[in-house]
Amino acid sequence: MKEISRSVVKKDHAPKMSGKSVYVGDYTAAKDGSPILVGKLLHSKLARAKIIKVNVPKLPDGYYYVDAKDVPGDNNVNIVLDDTPVYARETVEYIGEPIGMVVGPDEKEVIRILGEINVEYEELEPVLDIRTAEKAFFDYEFGHGDIEKAFSEADHIFEEEFETGYQDQTYLETQGMMAEPEKNGKMYVHGSMQCAYYVHGAVMRVLGCAPDGLHVLQDVTGGGFGGKEAFPSILGSQVAVAAHKANAAVRCVFDRREDLEYTSKRHPSLCKYKMAVKDGKVTAVDCDVIFNAGAYSTLSAVVLQRGIIAAPGIYNIPNVHVRGRAVKTNTSPCGAYRGFGAPQTFFAIEMMMNHVAQELGVDSVEFKEAHLVKKGDMTSTQGKYHFPVPVQDMINEIDKECDLKRKHKEYAKEQTGRYRRGIGMSAYFHGAGFTGSGERDLIKAVAKLHKYADGTVEVLASNGEIGQGLRTTFPKIVANELNLPLDKVYYNHPDTERVPDSGPTVASRSLMVVGELLRRAAIKLRDIWEDGKEQEVEERFKEPDFMIPFYLDKFQGDAYPTYAWAVNAIEVEVDTYTGLTKILGAYGNFDVGTPMDYNIVMGQMEGGFLQGIGYSSIEKMDYDNKGRIRNNSFSDYLIPTTKDVPNMKCMLHVEEYPQGPYGAKGAGELPLVGAPGAYVAAVEQALGGCKMHRLNHAPFTAEDTLKEITKEAK
Ligand code: MTE
Ligand code: MOS
Repeated sequence: MKEISRSVVKKDHAPKMSGKSVYVGDYTAAKDGSPILVGKLLHSKLARAKIIKVNVPKLPDGYYYVDAKDVPGDNNVNIVLDDTPVYARETVEYIGEPIGMVVGPDEKEVIRILGEINVEYEELEPVLDIRTAEKAFFDYEFGHGDIEKAFSEADHIFEEEFETGYQDQTYLETQGMMAEPEKNGKMYVHGSMQCAYYVHGAVMRVLGCAPDGLHVLQDVTGGGFGGKEAFPSILGSQVAVAAHKANAAVRCVFDRREDLEYTSKRHPSLCKYKMAVKDGKVTAVDCDVIFNAGAYSTLSAVVLQRGIIAAPGIYNIPNVHVRGRAVKTNTSPCGAYRGFGAPQTFFAIEMMMNHVAQELGVDSVEFKEAHLVKKGDMTSTQGKYHFPVPVQDMINEIDKECDLKRKHKEYAKEQTGRYRRGIGMSAYFHGAGFTGSGERDLIKAVAKLHKYADGTVEVLASNGEIGQGLRTTFPKIVANELNLPLDKVYYNHPDTERVPDSGPTVASRSLMVVGELLRRAAIKLRDIWEDGKEQEVEERFKEPDFMIPFYLDKFQGDAYPTYAWAVNAIEVEVDTYTGLTKILGAYGNFDVGTPMDYNIVMGQMEGGFLQGIGYSSIEKMDYDNKGRIRNNSFSDYLIPTTKDVPNMKCMLHVEEYPQGPYGAKGAGELPLVGAPGAYVAAVEQALGGCKMHRLNHAPFTAEDTLKEITKEAK
């Protein structure tokens, strides 16, 4: 282990554990001491309707009703496209869409007023089925080779559909934002978020002010997992408009039901795969990927891009065709969640490979091994795997740990008892950093170090601590280069007034991309260091020279500079009387390059893997025929608790990335991505394999298992 990997106490450990950290809901007054008004949203009760009239009762003094008419600038939130309204236009497009906000000093009174507002709607038929949805916000297509020829020459052709459901981020702290008009005329927006500059860009436009007309601070944030990438831009815009109208500080914090029902989640997916096999080898794959985007486009473009780039998996398939669509339905807009579209398509390709292997009568682990990509091979987008691909070694390591290969063959034999076992394996990557040329063309990250006269150094960057450890790992990198004790280097929560735009806290990019900028900045500072003097250095992102330029219009080139790799194996025992599945062991082997802090990285791996296991097995969320999400509490939407943590073993396989700090690669999202492919495969094997029971959706719950078993009895 490198010295930098040695674990330290996280810088925010003590304040968080002692309850001293101030979250947005904890403020008792605005910065200037004035009281904070409570804001509560008026949510649409229908999935699709024209708004005829909103009847607001007479408001007591000091109370306000805020809606689209109060937006001083543009009533559109800047995300990727600008189709998400701040407050509803003439129509509502999903249940929960914010029509307006009631604001006032007393929460009970605000709730009373909200209850008395009567909205007259003209109800329209909602679009709820992605199979029949007509509007695609995004429709991409790419491929290489000659797919038609490969299918016409194939020995076998296999076709199958795979579906995945919602997954909610269920961060401990719900969404919450606050806006305060300052005496100097500026707006101050702060709250729970991942991307201060995204909020800044969005609110600026909504208020119609100049960049320095507002500033945005990330408060202590109780988890994001992607759910606070774009949503705070929307809620931040809403509170900013309210604060502007009331000329007072306004805060809106969601309760858990609002959060579960109305905020962005992982896109449900439908993937149709067609695979050609000749002489025992896969010669072509045709992937048709549909994501349920919900009512507005928000982040669907980037989620879909990552999803379809991963669609053919990590296998050498000479002929590839991929089509991906993010379709509009009248449901809550979906967004980012750890993995960004890749968990959906990796589930599809991993299950497809399992099934094709079984149909061919070969062991699926060996079948996958025979197709693994290696260094120098072409990626799905005709880029290149520039660095070693350690997956075969990682499979061997997992095999050593849990006897994967022997068990996989053993459990494939007929089982008859009440309890039956299965083991499933998935192998996959996470493309490190933003997709395509995003880092170079869109983000253009800048990071700074400020040294004070007393010799302390402050990191100036816009990335947020969301539990993944940046407040500790950024200073660790800088302290290491400057040979300073860790307490001399610190990283505060970013305020756009003080820090440059080093980009958003997404795509597992911060540590790898911005961490490297800070490492280089620290070297610069070391070279000019003068005791007793205040000094500042800056670093800017430069794209690595080896990159094959990526063209988004053609989906061609290097979608990512490098990849983090993983192999998962999950072993289960299914009780065929009850349908309950017990996980006997969950093994994850992860290559995220050099760990910047061993405990932090292991925390990331274990937490992410567990989220993936929840996604695979129990986290079920769906809407009814009116478009209403029915699982809006933790008694209806089950996530793994501490009692559900299985025997879990995470391992690190280190393949250093020369362009990441000390060889680090993007780490945060990888551990979630492959769990469904391993878990559902394990349950399927326990039930007798795909010829007996072909499982093709996730989550695969105890109810689903029972349904399969009852089929057998018939
Ligand atoms: N870990 C914790 N504890 N809390 C989080 O919200 N978000 C994940 C991951 N790990 C998250 C987390 C997501 S979605 C991303 S993109 C990465 O952390 C961000 O990692 P980075 O800081 O290296 O960009
Ligand atoms: Mo992470 S889903 O990229 O915020």
